[in-house]
Amino acid sequence: METLVSVRSIAKVDVYKEIIPQIESLIRDESDLIANLANTASALKFAFPSFSWVGFYVNRSGELVLGPFQGKPACVRIQMGRGVCGTAAQEKKTIIVPSVYEFPGHIFCDPDSKSEIVVPLLSDNEVLGVLDVDSALFNTFDTVDQRFLEEIASMIAVKF
Ligand code: SME
Repeated sequence: METLVSVRSIAKVDVYKEIIPQIESLIRDESDLIANLANTASALKFAFPSFSWVGFYVNRSGELVLGPFQGKPACVRIQMGRGVCGTAAQEKKTIIVPSVYEFPGHIFCDPDSKSEIVVPLLSDNEVLGVLDVDSALFNTFDTVDQRFLEEIASMIAVKF
């Protein structure tokens, strides 16, 4: 069991290590925020088949508003402090949810979602938005995802 887990983790690391330079080159010379968020969501969604929904919510005057995403249609507006997205934004920290059924206040937008990770996009300690990734499987996300998705969030935050 332990071997299986570590093999899976190594594979995940390899996918992130391949995808991050691709995202970097997709956004490097482009200043348009929508284009950059859209390409990042797409690159992540298609790199990981278990990701059922990948997208951004952008801070618009203190409210999170749906931005570019890949997946089924989702809730448009999320208040700060509400759901996983609003909580991650308010606390300015990444939240890993192993089972969406066990996170009090989880907002059911993606019907396929079983687990979720939300990473805030921060600049000078201000919340610009969040990166939200949902999985069709339970227990998908761990500190490996956190590390790499936070790296991607930092690359995106400087493009706002
Ligand atoms: N589940 C999120 C809402 C966004 S959707 O998953 C796309 C939440 O609880 O904030």
